[in-house]
Amino acid sequence: MDIYLGSDHAGVLLKKKVLSHLRESGHKAIDLGVFDEVNKVDYPDIAREVGEKVLENNGSRGVLVCGTGIGMSIAANKMKGIRAACVHDVTTAEMAAKHNNANIITFGERVLGEQVARDMIDVWLKTPFEGGRHEDRLNKISNIEND
Ligand code: RB5
Repeated sequence: MDIYLGSDHAGVLLKKKVLSHLRESGHKAIDLGVFDEVNKVDYPDIAREVGEKVLENNGSRGVLVCGTGIGMSIAANKMKGIRAACVHDVTTAEMAAKHNNANIITFGERVLGEQVARDMIDVWLKTPFEGGRHEDRLNKISNIEND
């Protein structure tokens, strides 16, 4: 599975650690930037870039890191077909896969440690979507996008 990563300046250090973790775990992880924490950028630009790649590449996923994870999730969720979950711990990451079939997770470098970030990604990637009633709810979300 291809996994696209992106961050703004406030998330770049944690994103680099997560990138190494994914590659060490054997995933194809592609870092779309940014690459330094000094030059300030606008998180919606990065969210859009990662979201577009996830939509183009069927079955791929995205990881977005900013200061809190909030801005990235708000921006990514404006894109039709993106289900971006702002996660904080292993439980929210697991449920983002199981119930929400999130194709992107977002989280914040200013509010999370590296080990939590690694554990969240691992559980999100390995947990299958349950489907059933949750599929019906996702269809209703698609209806909102289409109305
Ligand atoms: C940047 O200062 C910060 O606002 C951004 O990284 C993010 O936390 C927004 O939600």
